[in-house]
Amino acid sequence: MTPSKSAERYTMLHRLLHWLIALLVAGLLASGMIMEDLEWNAAEGALKNSLYFNHKSVGALLIGLMVLRLLSRLFSRAPAPEPDMPVLFKLAGGAGHLALYVLLIATPLLGWSATAAGDFPLPVFGLFELPKFLAKDADLSETLFEAHELAANLLLLVVIAHIGAAFFHLFIRRDGVFRRMWF
Ligand code: HEM
Ligand code: HEM
Repeated sequence: MTPSKSAERYTMLHRLLHWLIALLVAGLLASGMIMEDLEWNAAEGALKNSLYFNHKSVGALLIGLMVLRLLSRLFSRAPAPEPDMPVLFKLAGGAGHLALYVLLIATPLLGWSATAAGDFPLPVFGLFELPKFLAKDADLSETLFEAHELAANLLLLVVIAHIGAAFFHLFIRRDGVFRRMWF
């Protein structure tokens, strides 16, 4: 299969955002799962506290980067599909990318709302606090945290399928799809 020409790549800004966001999401999934398992005691409390602080700060940064990414996607055309790509692959790719976008927006917004409804701190790297746009409501906060966990678990599943698909294109089908997002 003939690899794509460089003109058929995503823009440099879009590729940078893709890899930066991929890195942040890996950190958020890992920190979320670890901090949930730690106890508020003398041995684990300090680490748990620091993971909460960083999880919320990086989650807030992700919201800002996703706004930039959506703008970059709206204002710069995605590269045209490979000419010989089967329709089924195009549909699966489109559905997978849409699911990623929806979850990349829903997951941090749910985390933010759950934290706001619980009246917990919302630090952004100690620089400022995200606004609390919900009145204190412990039941609502609990429900939103459950939704945050569900969205994060779905995101993990779609990311695994996405990475599998990217490596399928790179190593098995050996087409130009990986290069569209690479440097
Ligand atoms: C894409 C972004 C995010 C991902 C992938 C993510 C992922 C996760 C995961 C996997 C957990 C553990 C869930 C569990 O096992 O119960 C978690 C918990 C949590 N997340 Fe996020 N998160 C994101 C963004 C945010 C944001 C923006 C905030 C708040 C500003 C936030 C606040 C929290 C809090 C406070 C918990 C602990 C929940 C509890 O104590 O029950 N997260 N997150
Ligand atoms: C090893 C990890 C990863 C690899 C190899 C990879 C590879 C790729 C490739 C090759 C594309 C372009 C597909 C095409 O042109 O049709 C792409 C697109 C995309 N990737 Fe990834 N990816 C990885 C991780 C992630 C992660 C962790 C996320 C999000 C959490 C993500 C979100 C997306 C999204 C939303 C698109 C669609 C881009 C757009 O159309 O704007 N990727 N990825």
